[in-house]
Amino acid sequence: MKPVRKAVIPVAGLGTRFLPATKSVPKELLPIVDVPAIQVIIQEVLASGIEEVIFITGRGKGAIMDHFDHSYELEDTLRRRGQTDLINQIEAISRMVRAVSVRQKAPLGLGHAVLCARSIIGDEPFAVLLPDDIIDAKVPATKQLVEQAERYGSGAVAVMEVPEDDVSMYGIIASERMTERSHRIYAMVEKPKRDLAPSRLAVIGRYVLPPEIFDYLEKTKPGHGGEIQLTDALQALARDRGLVGYEFEGDRHDIGDKAGFLRANIEFALKRPDLAPALIEYLRGRLGSEL
Ligand code: UTP
Repeated sequence: MKPVRKAVIPVAGLGTRFLPATKSVPKELLPIVDVPAIQVIIQEVLASGIEEVIFITGRGKGAIMDHFDHSYELEDTLRRRGQTDLINQIEAISRMVRAVSVRQKAPLGLGHAVLCARSIIGDEPFAVLLPDDIIDAKVPATKQLVEQAERYGSGAVAVMEVPEDDVSMYGIIASERMTERSHRIYAMVEKPKRDLAPSRLAVIGRYVLPPEIFDYLEKTKPGHGGEIQLTDALQALARDRGLVGYEFEGDRHDIGDKAGFLRANIEFALKRPDLAPALIEYLRGRLGSEL
């Protein structure tokens, strides 16, 4: 297998669940404590040994590229004020990653968003990261998948067990177990009804895919919700070329959901020595009076 050098990050969704916050601010820039969610994702990309990023963007998402570019006015002001630490931090972000953006002109679905990267990816395997999923892990989740893809010589997707009541929110796999954490996928269903779900193993927003996925995406007709679903193309890929589902190690936060977003902020804040003591004290007092 050729090395995985590029990551596709689809950010063209409308973010309706976070309106009105996302009326003029891309949801990917909402912060996890004080770091925009998209920067947490880029840190995972870099820590997985991938250096090139392709954002699939839509209307009103220009601020994402701006975040990873120089901000000369801000840098100049900070310099004049002598705030060296902040300048260093801000400059490091603008040097962080080599990124290009491709515009998805209409939100026709995640499958269509990934297809928009075809000409830039070319003939190599690549990673896809959905910024709604933040995965806090010792070994970055994308790196775990790259290792699986190399080991089995096929695509690999992140999966995790979800409660029975939640299967209808995810793509669910039918599979046979190969090792403690890896599964050979033979079918996938997008958002099945509880009774029709083949398992409780849900696909989470991390993928390492071979370039052949584009041929399948080209042929994929609109599916669930009238959108071109990545799941439908993955199902065909699994059937013809094999696909591994890997139960990654790490804590996943679904920050596309309000409760998940708040939980992620609390968990990340609890890991920060500058914030944890005051937050714990506040929560103790608050929950004590609540119970
Ligand atoms: P979601 O289905 O969560 O949609 O997309 P959304 O618009 O981001 O959020 P809500 O549900 O309206 O609040 C899953 C991922 O696929 C991308 C989104 O940006 C997100 O990363 N996506 C979805 C696209 O890039 N294009 C699409 O046409 C659809």
